[in-house]
Formats: sequence, C-alpha cells, structure tokens
Amino acid sequence: MTAEIIDGKKIAEKVREEVRQGVAKMKEETGYVPGLATVRVGEDPASATYVRMKQRMCETLGINSFGHTFPEDATQEEVETLVSELNANPSVNGILVQLPLPGHLDEEAILNSIDLAKDVDGFHPVNIGRLAMKGRDPLFIPCTPYGCIRLLEESGVQISGAEAVIVGRSNIVGLPVAMLLQKANATVTICHSRTKDLAEHTRNADIVIAAIGRREMITGDMLKPGAAVIDVGINQKEDASRKRGYRLVGDVDFESAKEVAGKITPVPGGVGPMTIAMLMANTLRAAQIAQDEN
Ligand code: GUN
Repeated sequence: MTAEIIDGKKIAEKVREEVRQGVAKMKEETGYVPGLATVRVGEDPASATYVRMKQRMCETLGINSFGHTFPEDATQEEVETLVSELNANPSVNGILVQLPLPGHLDEEAILNSIDLAKDVDGFHPVNIGRLAMKGRDPLFIPCTPYGCIRLLEESGVQISGAEAVIVGRSNIVGLPVAMLLQKANATVTICHSRTKDLAEHTRNADIVIAAIGRREMITGDMLKPGAAVIDVGINQKEDASRKRGYRLVGDVDFESAKEVAGKITPVPGGVGPMTIAMLMANTLRAAQIAQDEN
C-alpha cells in the first residue's frame, strides 16, 4: 500500500484564497486594509528568509506589511518600546516577533508585551494558557500547529477518539499541537528525546506529528499501517545532484513511511506552506476583531 499524499501546497492555496476574499470584502465594505508588523532581531539567515516570505505573502493577499529589523545587540527596552508603539498603531492588526531571539533578550517578557488582540502568532502566555485549558479558547492559534490540524481536517482524518503521538515538545510546535489535538478529543502522547521506546508509542498511533528536528528519524517500521503522518521537520540532506549540494527532508523517512502510512505530508510541500497561510488567516481575523470593536 502506498499512502495518499497530503498536498500542503493545494490546501494552503485554499486557505490563502479564503484570506484574499476576506481582505477584499473588508476593503470594499469598510475601506480598511489589514496590516501585519514583523519584528526581527539580528541576522539569522533562516529567520530573515522566513520574515521576507511572510511580508511577500501579505503583499500578494492585499495585506499591508510593516517590517522592523533590529541589530543583534538590540536592548530589551528597544524591542519592547517598538512593540508598545505597534500595539497603539491602528493600522497594525498583527504583531509577529520572529523567534528565536538572541540569547540576551527575555523572550517571554517580549511576547507578554504584545497586545493579546494582535498576537497573531498565538505565542502570548495568555493565549497559550487558554489553549491548554478546558472550556477556554485562545484568540489566536499558533500558525504551524493550526496548519497541522487544518491538513488533517482537509484530508478527512478523524481526530476525535484517535490515538495521536507527537514527537517533539517545542513551544512553537510540539506543545501547542498536542494541546490542540487534545481539544479536538484525540488521546495524546507527547514523546521527546528522553522517551525510552519511541517506536512502541508511534506504532500505536493513528496520527503521528513529527516535530523533533532530527532528519528522517521516523521510519516506516515505526508506524501503524494506515496512520496519518504529519511531518513538520525541515532538514538538509547532502545531495550531489542538486546545485546547492543538498535537498530538504523531514523528520520522517518518507520512502519507507509512505509504504505503511495511510496519509502522509511530503517535505517540502506539506506543512511548510501552511504556516504562512495560517498566519495570514490569523491576521485577517485580528483585523475583523478590531473592526467589530469599532
Ligand atoms: N520561528 C519558527 N517558527 C516561527 C513562527 O511560527 N513564528 C515566529 N514568530 N517565529 C518562528
């Protein structure tokens, strides 16, 4: 059996089209254009690329984008002062502080300084707290976990009652995706680098979310036949046939996994395109909340 490929590019385009239409409708009815501010500190090349992609996508969908870049040695006060200004700026609906921040900055304090109603990344401690609690809902759901859930839903995967295993416990993906799956009534197990027998857990899982950051670590023999596999990993693998000398692979060994899984996301073209699409959806939602308050 070969797994059905979950086409992240196609599903992301569907989300983007929803956002495009929502933005156009808002502009037509109220004259207001949603806006996203990005804040980046330092010169990490991957972060610079991600932020540029986010800004470009704003332009493509008709959302205003406001880019702010600090040098590596920016102070806590400088960053928090900018966030306060953006909080007060009515043209800005969403504020995205690209992570990771340089080590000398207090990440939690900076995320805490973002207005809850503009927390389109969903990383504000209050939003994360609400995500964790029964009967409460965050204003915004973190973009990559939100994208994982949307991929499962669009592919017809039953979440309620499913055994879900998350491999990885990062604040950005593993932890929030576990909380989301639990909210959607899955039975959730979080595995990590200290888990004694990872395969024992993954072999029981109807849904596997791989977000551990170790290249091709989850192999086909670790999966339950028919499982839905969402691969969040992006790793480089040497490949002399490519001009740049490498290709991108996930945390799942795609070749062996696709022979066992029922549905699987490829890398690239799976989760990747969803993260930015969900950020755009969150930004539109932030603008709609702001408009409703007026
Ligand atoms: N770094 C890696 N992923 C993300 C993300 O989704 N948002 C932000 N702000 N930083 C990140």
